Amino acid sequence: MLNVAVLISGRGSNLQSLIDACASPDYPARIVVVISNNPDAYGLERARLAGIPTSIVNHREFEDRISFENAIDDELKKYKAKFICLAGFMRILDARFVNRWKDRILNIHPSLLPSFKGLHTQERALEAGVRFTGCTVHIVRPEMDEGPIILQAALAVDPEDNAENLSAKVLELEHIIYPEALKLVAMGGVSVSGNKAIIKKATYPTEGLISPKPLS
Ligand code: GAR
Repeated sequence: MLNVAVLISGRGSNLQSLIDACASPDYPARIVVVISNNPDAYGLERARLAGIPTSIVNHREFEDRISFENAIDDELKKYKAKFICLAGFMRILDARFVNRWKDRILNIHPSLLPSFKGLHTQERALEAGVRFTGCTVHIVRPEMDEGPIILQAALAVDPEDNAENLSAKVLELEHIIYPEALKLVAMGGVSVSGNKAIIKKATYPTEGLISPKPLS
């Protein structure tokens, strides 16, 4: 059983998808703590409702990033976390922290990386006129929204789409692939070779995740 800490900053819908997955008895990971830098994050409420310990590490209360991250590390130790999932965690992590947790941090990002790193991804995707958009779960590297890709899911952009409804459709896909990706990692199905994540064939969930579920 892999002990996971989930780091959030807000709504926590991806956290919820992980909580729901962990509720299944044969899921190979469990959430030992939810840490938020934002005391008002709704995700904290989701954790409490699920009976998961929460911890607020408010970046505003620290002098610099290093002391903020050291405080996060203290919480991770306290709850014996062995792995971290970033789920809408909107702070950049310093290279020192990321390297300390090398290959043990996952992130979910609402674009088909390496395209559209950063914020406002669907707005920018629409502006660029792409025909597909989607989301990515990847292993975290010090550079923002970079690192070995574990899973992606894609959907076709409809000419009628706007950034808001596209974000909602992508979010549905996020909620599918994040628990799948964590499961793969927790089962030992993922190894890292250079910039790539290699997934053992026996553990691969589907034949490629293009809109794995019909979207309403
Ligand atoms: C999600 O769409 C996630 O992919 C994105 O923030 C949202 C958080 O929603 N993360 C990033 O943009 C990170 N670069 P949630 O709080 O409901 O999970």
